[in-house]
Amino acid sequence: MNLKFIPRKFGLLCLVAIWYGCSTPQEESVTGLITEKAMVVSAHPLASDVGKSILQQGGNAVDAAIAVHFALAVVYPEAGNIGGGGFFVIRQKEGTYHSLDFRERGPLAAHPDMYLDENGEVIDRLSLKGHLASGVPGAVDGMVKAHEKFGSLPWADLIQPAIDLASEGFVLTEGEANKFNRAKENFQQYSTVDPVQFTGKDWVTGDRLVQTQLAETLTRIRDLGREGFYAGPVAEYIVAEMERGGGIISLEDLEKYESTWRDPLVGQYKDYKIITMGPPSSGGLIILQMLGTMKDYPVSNKGEDYAAYLHLKTEMERRVYADRAAYMADSDYYPVPIEALLDEAYLKSRFLTFDPEKATPSAEIQEGQLLSMSEETTHFSVVDPMGNAVSCTTTLNGGMGSSVVVDGAGFILNNEMDDFSIKPGHPNMFGVLGGEANKVEPGKRMLSSMTPTILEKGGELYMVVGTPGGSTIPTSVFQTIVNVIEFGMGMQEAVNEKRFHSQWQPEVISYEQGALTGNLQQALESKGHVLTERSGIGRVDAILRLPDGRLEGGADPRGMDAAAGF
Ligand code: DON
Repeated sequence: MNLKFIPRKFGLLCLVAIWYGCSTPQEESVTGLITEKAMVVSAHPLASDVGKSILQQGGNAVDAAIAVHFALAVVYPEAGNIGGGGFFVIRQKEGTYHSLDFRERGPLAAHPDMYLDENGEVIDRLSLKGHLASGVPGAVDGMVKAHEKFGSLPWADLIQPAIDLASEGFVLTEGEANKFNRAKENFQQYSTVDPVQFTGKDWVTGDRLVQTQLAETLTRIRDLGREGFYAGPVAEYIVAEMERGGGIISLEDLEKYESTWRDPLVGQYKDYKIITMGPPSSGGLIILQMLGTMKDYPVSNKGEDYAAYLHLKTEMERRVYADRAAYMADSDYYPVPIEALLDEAYLKSRFLTFDPEKATPSAEIQEGQLLSMSEETTHFSVVDPMGNAVSCTTTLNGGMGSSVVVDGAGFILNNEMDDFSIKPGHPNMFGVLGGEANKVEPGKRMLSSMTPTILEKGGELYMVVGTPGGSTIPTSVFQTIVNVIEFGMGMQEAVNEKRFHSQWQPEVISYEQGALTGNLQQALESKGHVLTERSGIGRVDAILRLPDGRLEGGADPRGMDAAAGF
């Protein structure tokens, strides 16, 4: 979906929200949905409703998260997925933390030079579209593992809502109809068999999208769990698709795929504990490095102080994204120096060159081009009545992933291989650089920026937060946290606030339309910053626990995101 942040579309989005019976923020309102006990905030009202209904049946936050994940694979197929991967960060009510890594893996036949021609040059789009762009999907194994450890309702009950949505269909909004029309050409070019469920007509508002093959695949997953996807007919469909399209994912790749429970990264910022995703995500490290640096600097969003904060933030981002390029990768394959990167003395040393009045030029390296992209990852946040919380970010990577729909199985495959460093110094689709640490290797997970995060205050759940947005994910999560805990905003207000992003290379601050209020532009330019406007940054879906124990949702108005709860 090309969801630019265009305020005049709010009226339509609100109508859509009312039609679905969910709460989406009004333009003038800065308070999100408030509920007494439980909440789901996701990219699609129907998926949020599925999660709410699971919670009403007595399911816990993990049950609801699994059901929302499968529902998004149907109603938000550009990013919600069974052909991709992601991360769960979980906080159990008693204060234990877990993270589940169901990121895709490089196929066994993958190798560092697989996207280069005989002269060592990158072959255009090979890591981005078509069969070689896909990593081995992890989402289904992730959902199964999460259910085995924490699920309380029967597995089948969590998949059934998605099966119903796929087989009965759901009604498209204008934005959704346009999205499928725009994707048609790529689907037909890159899939080996025309996926007529998406391409068979020119979609208009009010059409019903039915996905029969996907419903059958989900039914197999409902009945057989992991085996319904990684073995039997679905695995055979995937491999047949690969063979027809010149891809390399094999039956062995599918059989061997395993998601992994990992210790989340845990850091402290003032009174707040931050529980977030470690490698193979860079996101948790980035926000902990930034918060660890910022704690020595007073920040404010009032008047001229806001420019000082944005300057400080940009200078932190430059240093941290330079670290990302050099040191961050899948820690199963590369020794990511987590402790050293978060070491207080190290963070201070990185900031010795900080000048509050002047931008530090980024080191001269091959220029990365930050692309304007649609937000095709998705994040959702869940809190259940018991106080358990799940923060989940999941993705196909780019819009509609590789644009390959597995014939017979009806789902879209990811193009996550582009998140590897396909050639040292060559930027990925988000303009971020990488080198040896993040090179392509069989079985390895490509470095991610996804930052599902949970905050605690005084030992109690405080916030659940995350967003899509490629390399802008960690900085959007960072800004949302700072908006609440430093600038005193409520959840919805913090989510609505205009965003800024910088990432070392390219050496610019990008900002959303309307972000440059007052004399911000002049103040930042006078420090030597270059500013560029771009389309909406991120889609943060978050939940804040208010002092009286109620929950406030923050559903991002940049999309049709919606909060639902009770
Ligand atoms: O894992 C990552 O960092 C990327 N594959 C996320 C992609 C994303 O957020 C797409 N949305 N703009």
